[in-house]
Amino acid sequence: MIIPEISIPITEIPLTAKVRLFMKREDLIHPQISGNKYWKLFYNINNYLHQKPENPLIITFGGAFSNHIAAVAALGKEVGISTVGIIRGEELADRWPENPTLTFAQQNGMQFRFVSRSAYRDKESLSRLLKNEFPRALIIPEGGTNEYAVQGIRHMLNNETKSFDYLCTAVGTGGTVAGISRFASDNQKVLGFMVVDDESLNTRIPEFSEKKNFELLEAHDGGYGKITDANIRFVNGFAQKYGIPLDPVYTGKMMKRILELIEEGFFPDGSRILAFHTGGLQGIQGANALLKKQGKVLIKRI
Ligand SMILES: Cc1ncc(COP(=O)(O)O)c(C=O)c1O
Repeated sequence: MIIPEISIPITEIPLTAKVRLFMKREDLIHPQISGNKYWKLFYNINNYLHQKPENPLIITFGGAFSNHIAAVAALGKEVGISTVGIIRGEELADRWPENPTLTFAQQNGMQFRFVSRSAYRDKESLSRLLKNEFPRALIIPEGGTNEYAVQGIRHMLNNETKSFDYLCTAVGTGGTVAGISRFASDNQKVLGFMVVDDESLNTRIPEFSEKKNFELLEAHDGGYGKITDANIRFVNGFAQKYGIPLDPVYTGKMMKRILELIEEGFFPDGSRILAFHTGGLQGIQGANALLKKQGKVLIKRI
């Protein structure tokens, strides 16, 4: 993997408000390994390849709609490494071809192991077993969050991002917000929008960033992956109004909450707010497959 030459555009979201809101389009960095996934995998993969492993293999974990699983599969194909996905939910063993994320991953060469939810939760035992079975494999945790991932997030920040008072990102496993916190300038405040209801984030993120410059705000709208009618209206309305597609699980929930906070006067007048578009658009197809049964639809990519 090489650092892409493209410079990621920062786009203003035109508002009639006393603050200014912008998005950094990390989703445009790569058609399949988009957003924060590219940077979270960057040092993980480069360091592994640097060791010149024989028969390189990446093993990672995720749910049926995981952006991380899709990104690892695409990356494995791009750099010529075999990939194995440990997928949550034994019931998917027969049904995975109905799932767009897993179909995409399989088409990119990923092999699956489906495990029960309780076995999946016990990640330490699972990792131990996998290490015994594949001693030379690179085992990347769920969501890709580890020290290398946090280091990779540095590339989402540059001279241009220094001019903002607030840096915002959606939070799943916490690696991205930890990296932004670690590499932000001293005067910047970092806001993490938690799309999961997971209190352990409050202790996990400080393990990766000692700074006190970040605040975690709830944005899960009823639970991880839950897509309400209000979420659908918001994502569709945002795409129509500003021409920027959002995913329903991460960036859609973050942007909805940011606009609510602006209305509520959370940000001081004159603030410059930057939200990172961390990708996840592959999830729209899977969400639409579920929503279709209820007669609802999310706008596809623009
Ligand atoms: C689109 C998108 N945005 C944000 C995140 C949150 O990243 P993290 O798990 O590092 O908190 C994820 C999860 O990987 C994601 O897929």
